Amino acid sequence: MNLYAGLRPLLFRLPPERAHALTLWALKSGLLGGASKADDPVLATEVWGRRFANPLGMSAGFDKNAEVMAPLLRLGFGFVEVGSITPKPQPGNPRPRVFRLPADRAVINRLGFNNEGIAGAEPRLKAFRATPVPGVLGVNLGKNKDGQAEADYAASTRALARHADYLAINVSSPNTPGLRALQGRAELERLIAAVRAELPDPPPALVLKIAPDLTEPDRRDIAAVALDRLDGLIVSNTTVARPENLRDPAKSETGGLSGRPLFRPSTDLLAEMYRLTEGRLPLIGVGGVEDGATAYAKIRAGASLVQLYTALVYEGPGLVTRIKRELSELLRRDGFARVADAVGADVAS
Ligand SMILES: Cc1cc2nc3c(=O)[nH]c(=O)nc-3n(C[C@H](O)[C@H](O)[C@H](O)COP(=O)(O)O)c2cc1C
Repeated sequence: MNLYAGLRPLLFRLPPERAHALTLWALKSGLLGGASKADDPVLATEVWGRRFANPLGMSAGFDKNAEVMAPLLRLGFGFVEVGSITPKPQPGNPRPRVFRLPADRAVINRLGFNNEGIAGAEPRLKAFRATPVPGVLGVNLGKNKDGQAEADYAASTRALARHADYLAINVSSPNTPGLRALQGRAELERLIAAVRAELPDPPPALVLKIAPDLTEPDRRDIAAVALDRLDGLIVSNTTVARPENLRDPAKSETGGLSGRPLFRPSTDLLAEMYRLTEGRLPLIGVGGVEDGATAYAKIRAGASLVQLYTALVYEGPGLVTRIKRELSELLRRDGFARVADAVGADVAS
């Protein structure tokens, strides 16, 4: 049953990026991602006028080049977010740049947007859109290391937005110098205007992915801008903080921390953004989701949709089905007939 438990020690002997490349290869060759069962109707939801068979998505960074969207959906995800994609291809930072922290069930990465650029992703997105694979597609946009923010996000929007159900502007990766400074109010307003000017008709939903390390004034500014100009927020990216209780020696590596230690801070920020946006905007909750209970906690903290990445490294592909089963049970236990009814249940208005 749990094949991955046997495979994991072998995968963990490989450097993380080699293990990841092998996983992508297995997905592409059809070795992973067999047909999953139809989802429990209690998990169905509608956001931005799109139907999601379930609210669980693959978060950005796993499929940076839009290579395995269909296999990930076949694994049971309700939606997939590809990227971050930058206009030009770029190699990212020197290796090693991804570190497992098994003692903390966490990962630190400083990849720096290694990806094949628009030219790599665009044909694959187009081909995917020509097939009738059910599932919602998000496209996450980043900025080249030597790029200019407004020009970069505008160029990628022009090239890729037509293939996306939602477009995620990523201004929260800690591994591109200056990127997170784009989360200030004036910078954001300019950036969103530049992107909006390039949206096709009909437009995809436009969402912003934010960092967990924002100051209180930044949080308020983002909420105000989001209510005015955006269709949603993704909360959150990895953190540059290093909680006191980390045990793994790799904790001293530079980069963004994800996984279990990110659960509390990212969920607290999610609840705060839900409050600040008065429950009027769909939020995607991400950070430390590893089972049905953590996915459910995100929903109760205000998430209409939930994503994960790091837990997949530790638990393997069977995790998707397990989370969905546990989430259905928790929703029914508490008398919720639909995911949407549980959104924000823990947040006092
Ligand atoms: C190896 C790795 C690469 C990532 N790359 C990206 C990226 O390119 N763009 C992005 O927006 N987020 C990226 N992320 C962040 C994840 O999408 C997610 O926001 C974060 O890891 C928290 O979720 P988790 O705790 O379930 O991993 C990356 C995360 C990891 C672990």
